[in-house]
Amino acid sequence: MVQQKSPPLLALSLNPSDLYARYLLERQEVQTLSCALGFVTFKILADHLHIIDVYVLPEARSQGVAFSLCQEVKSIGEESGCTHIFGQVDCKSKNPSGSLKAFMKMGMDILEAKNDMIYIVGRI
Ligand SMILES: CC(C)(COP(=O)(O)OP(=O)(O)OC[C@H]1O[C@@H](n2cnc3c(N)ncnc32)[C@H](O)[C@@H]1OP(=O)(O)O)[C@@H](O)C(=O)NCCC(=O)NCCS
Repeated sequence: MVQQKSPPLLALSLNPSDLYARYLLERQEVQTLSCALGFVTFKILADHLHIIDVYVLPEARSQGVAFSLCQEVKSIGEESGCTHIFGQVDCKSKNPSGSLKAFMKMGMDILEAKNDMIYIVGRI
């Protein structure tokens, strides 16, 4: 079994006061889960959950922060009755292999690739 390092995930918040997070929620029903080191934005659609963006401060990377944020998002999805989680990696973005590795580490796998996008799926 892989031992996950415990990251300094402090003060997780689903109701951030950040104005852009409020905009995303009001305009696109996109929720933001954040802590002092990063955030994940996601949307629940019927029985599945889409991860839209994940960001971790450069100095806090490779400590499992993204992993922990996404585990938390999975729990939220599970409570909402979701069975699957989806994500995507843009091959034209900076360091797409790092993003792909982070998703794989969360137990997700490649669903398909179209144009420059790799679509990822995992079970909740
Ligand atoms: C991708 C990102 C969210 C990962 O955050 P993180 O907190 O470092 O992720 P984790 O610590 O949970 O790491 C999971 C795995 O992903 C891989 N990984 C994470 N960041 C990486 C990087 N910059 N380069 C290469 N691999 C990376 C590693 O395999 C890592 O496992 P390891 O530390 O055991 O080697 C972060 O690098 C980031 O914010 N990047 C810029 C934004 C971005 O690309 N977002 C993803 C859009 S889909």
